[in-house]
Amino acid sequence: MAKFSPPPGTADIFPGEMPLWHRLEDTARRIFPLYGYGELRTPIFEYTEVFKRGIGDETEVVQKEMYTFEDRGGRSLTLRPEGTAGVMRALLNTDVMNGNEKRVFYIGPMFRGERPAAGRRRQFHQIGVENAGRVAPELDAENMAMMMQYLDDLEISGTKLMINTRGAQTDRKPAEETLSKYFQQHIGDMCDDCKTRVARNVWRILDCKQARCKEIVKNAPDYVSAYSSESRAYFDTVCELLTSFNVDFEIDKQLVRGLDYYAHTVFEVIYPGIGAQNAIAGGGRYELYLPENKKPIVGVGFAAGLERLLMVQEALSVAAPGIGKGPVFLVSMGASARAFNMKLAQDLRSANIPVVVEVEDKSMKAQMRAANRVNAGFAIICGDDELESGKVVCKDMQEGSQEEIGQAELKNFLQNIYKEV
Ligand code: HAM
Repeated sequence: MAKFSPPPGTADIFPGEMPLWHRLEDTARRIFPLYGYGELRTPIFEYTEVFKRGIGDETEVVQKEMYTFEDRGGRSLTLRPEGTAGVMRALLNTDVMNGNEKRVFYIGPMFRGERPAAGRRRQFHQIGVENAGRVAPELDAENMAMMMQYLDDLEISGTKLMINTRGAQTDRKPAEETLSKYFQQHIGDMCDDCKTRVARNVWRILDCKQARCKEIVKNAPDYVSAYSSESRAYFDTVCELLTSFNVDFEIDKQLVRGLDYYAHTVFEVIYPGIGAQNAIAGGGRYELYLPENKKPIVGVGFAAGLERLLMVQEALSVAAPGIGKGPVFLVSMGASARAFNMKLAQDLRSANIPVVVEVEDKSMKAQMRAANRVNAGFAIICGDDELESGKVVCKDMQEGSQEEIGQAELKNFLQNIYKEV
């Protein structure tokens, strides 16, 4: 274990990076309410069953990636690997199962024990949105339009929106039969994982990354034609609505997504320029089962990975938001000046002016260096002479200029500057 490093796949986020994170979060809090969504916070861990049942026992996430532990009462708990299952668990306590729609969004950390790589973390952050309780192609299309508006507002361009349909649950069997008949014929040429997938889960073969499997998948039969006419019409309406909203998209028949709750529309936003982990957001319509719930909760939603959004913004050289003016730094020459400054600092803070005071007895030079380290907007210098004269020296750290200001005027002067920041 490297000393002082956080565990692999996790990272510390320091104050200097915060404006970038805040922009992603503030934009979500501005855009999603335009569509009627309110913020929801759910626990970071849930009963393990919520994820097993919600996401599906057969998925990679549930089989290999969950951080699961026992609490003192011997109950199995899991750090949330994604947001949807926990959000649905919370919404079950509302009247959402009676066809009443609920619109929520969430922001926070998720945990998956994946092999860390560029853009792949074990603790990562998502902004997600869920529209639960109703089924309508209009909601699917609106969801994607909202996602694209969010990305647009973040100046994220050059993305591709890929969409597909998984059909209704009742379409699964005929589509699976069509696919498995075809894959059976090619089983000898497939990777070992896909050989077992032919019997267990043919859908996973469609997004296998092995070249030889990709070659076979290329010529796979069009399983969507085995769907019911209602399911095909549902998808056509989604596509027509997206076109009418001027949202560009591509249909990708190999897009199945890694979580088992999806039904009907699935989608992903890809940004080609950030390496292998290039999915910056993904989602779709779902029918999600929770423990002891015989009926699934229906909905449509998506989640975007914040670390990946930041990577794209960096690749696109999106200007970082302004970090405002640094604090006022109070320099004290001597113990009496320091006592005066400690009190002055409280007075200035009560007027919303950010202030840092040097508390050690240091040379003027050392204190000015400290002011630079905190990126101070102003240094205010006070010693015995200033205490006597009732004035202080005020140095503008950006301009390099300095002037004397009466102690009585100082608060007003700084307040005028900092109120615009
Ligand atoms: P997901 O595709 O698993 O979907 O994750 C959504 C996004 O989270 C991905 O597109 C990616 O940007 C980011 N992400 C996932 N895993 C990692 C990781 N290990 N490191 C960094 N970023 C990652 C879901 O989680 C669904 N709950 C989305 C959804 C909501 N579907 C319906 N509603």
